[in-house]
Order: sequence, then C-alpha cells, then structure tokens
Amino acid sequence: MAIRTIFWDNDAVVMIDQKALPNEERYVTCCNYGEVIRAIKDLTIRGAPAIGVAAAMGVALGMLHLETTSRDEFARTFYHICKNFAATRPTARNLFWALERMERCFADANPSDLEAVKKALVDEAVRICEEDIAVNRLIGMNGRSLIGDGASILTHCNAGALATAGYGTALGVIRAACEEGKQVHVFVDETRPVLQGARLTAWELMKENIPATLIADGMAGFLMKQGKIDLVIVGADRIASNGDTANKIGTYSVAVLAHHHGIPFYVAAPLSTFDFSIPDGNHIPVEERAAEEVTHLWGQAVAPFGAPALNLAFDVTPNDLIAGIVTEKGIMEPPYTSCLKPYRPA
Ligand code: MRU
Repeated sequence: MAIRTIFWDNDAVVMIDQKALPNEERYVTCCNYGEVIRAIKDLTIRGAPAIGVAAAMGVALGMLHLETTSRDEFARTFYHICKNFAATRPTARNLFWALERMERCFADANPSDLEAVKKALVDEAVRICEEDIAVNRLIGMNGRSLIGDGASILTHCNAGALATAGYGTALGVIRAACEEGKQVHVFVDETRPVLQGARLTAWELMKENIPATLIADGMAGFLMKQGKIDLVIVGADRIASNGDTANKIGTYSVAVLAHHHGIPFYVAAPLSTFDFSIPDGNHIPVEERAAEEVTHLWGQAVAPFGAPALNLAFDVTPNDLIAGIVTEKGIMEPPYTSCLKPYRPA
C-alpha cells in the first residue's frame, strides 16, 4: 500500500511520525496549528514538499479553529499564523510557495463570510496535497528514461514519498522506472547527521522490494571509482533561477565526486521548489540546526561533552555539476536560465 505521509482528517492534520521510523510506524494527529509548527521544526514531518503541505494544512487548521466574527481579527490571525510557519525551515522553498498559495486563496475569498473563507482555506490545503502527488507522478514519468535497465543508482537523503505528499521526487523517478519493469539497484547514503537515508529511504525502498544497499556517506566516492554507480539522483529544497540547487548537506560532495568520475548527477523536483526571485545559489538561505544533531545519535552522545559542532542542514550544488533537473514539465537541461524561462512567473 502507498505510504501516506500527511492527510487532512476530521478537522485535524495527520502525519506519519518520521522521527519514529523505521522502528515504529505510527501516525500523529495535530489538532492545532502550534502542533504542526512543532512537527515541522522537530522533523516529525520533513522534506521540502511535505513541509509545504504541512504548512498549508496548519494554516487552514489554525483558521478553522478561530472563533471570531471580527474580519480584522480574522485577517490579523491569518497573517500571524503564516508568519509563524514561514519561520520554521528557511531553506525549503515549497514552504513559502505553499504559504503564498494560501495567501492568494485568502485574498480571493469573500471576507464577509468567514465560514466560507475557512472552508476555502481547508480546500486549498487539501488541493495542494493532492496536486503534489500528481506532480510527483509526472516527474517520475518524465525522469524514468534516465534510468537504464540494470542501472545502479546512488541517492542522498530522502526524496521519497515521505518527503512529499506521496510517491516522491528522486525516489519517484526510481519508482517509475521500476513500474516500467526495469531492474535497478539503489545505493542509499545514510545521510548524517540525522540519517534520513538510513532511516527513511532504506525503509521506503525495502517496503516496495526495490533492491537497495545502505552505505556510509564516506563510501560513495570509492564505489564510484569501482564503477559501481551509473547515475546519481537526488531531490532539492530550493533551486535558483540558474539551476544552482540546495539539498541535504553532503549533496554537493556527492556531485563533485560524480563529476570527477564522469557519472551523471540529476536533480528531481517540482516547479514549486524553484525560486525565480534569486539569480543563483549564493542567495539561498541555508538552515543551521542544533549542534546536538551532530554530537548525539538517538539521544546518546557520540562526541566529547561540550565539543563544538557545526550543523548546516543543506549545501548548494552549482548548476555546472548537474546534468539535468527532472520536473513535471520535463527534464530541464543546461543552460538552465534559458531552459527554465518559460516557467518563470510573469
Ligand atoms: O532536513 P530535511 O529532511 O527536510 O531535508 C530534506 C532534503 O534535503 C530532501 O532531499 C529535499 O527536501 C527534497 S524532498 C523531495
């Protein structure tokens, strides 16, 4: 059965608890928007598109439970909630894209009927969720030709069903190739510091019987040297107008290694991950997370007490290391600025 990452149920937001995976498959129910914000911050839900869906549903939830007849208070609360969600995960472009959609929906709704506005916001959030799955299926269809029968693929972090509303981006491309009957083998970077590869990607692939081998991050280069990797495919958190791509820390190193070994490095992402307001990757805000994610594993210290640690959650891969970006509109190829031009909002 398909993995359900997040859904709207009974005036609440339900999501699979990604902190508990792979040991426990449990769902958490968020009954107010503060709980959704906490879930985004503590990685109960993560992955740029899934964060966007969670934020949209969180905003809808916050407004649904607001009891007021004052239009001013209603509007003030709406923008206050949006602002709080915008402060959760700065790199994930889909978060801001989803909030912009909710703001447009709010602006278009009839302010004299607050119950109708609430309904419009809930409908929009559910639509964002459903559309994400449909878009990912298109990404899969568009990208599956990149994967030859018998291909050996390396991926980093988790750009699967769990990182989206469903199906996934990079893993969606792999899924689509498998659905076509191709045999593949996926090497999964464990993805330090919080192990999205080991905990989530390995879990997803095993659940669907897609052959996969987990490796320590530092192993990727040597496997490439041994000729064991045919291509790399990863997801993205934010892509600048020129194709520079932010993704989980460690992605840049993989791209450099792939370049050195002459292995194509692909990105798979929906257009909602593109930030056309910035010319290049130097403008992408990189989230810095708590040092404890580096110094501790499962609450256990793996470094001397008090060891200073740096925890940049993302890095930026320059466009010249990227062979193609698979989107729902097709595969974008260099030079990205001109290839992406038709998709820039006016
Ligand atoms: O910190 P995370 O787990 O939210 O980071 C996720 C990633 O880096 C993913 O690769 C990215 O969001 C693409 S998800 C389709």
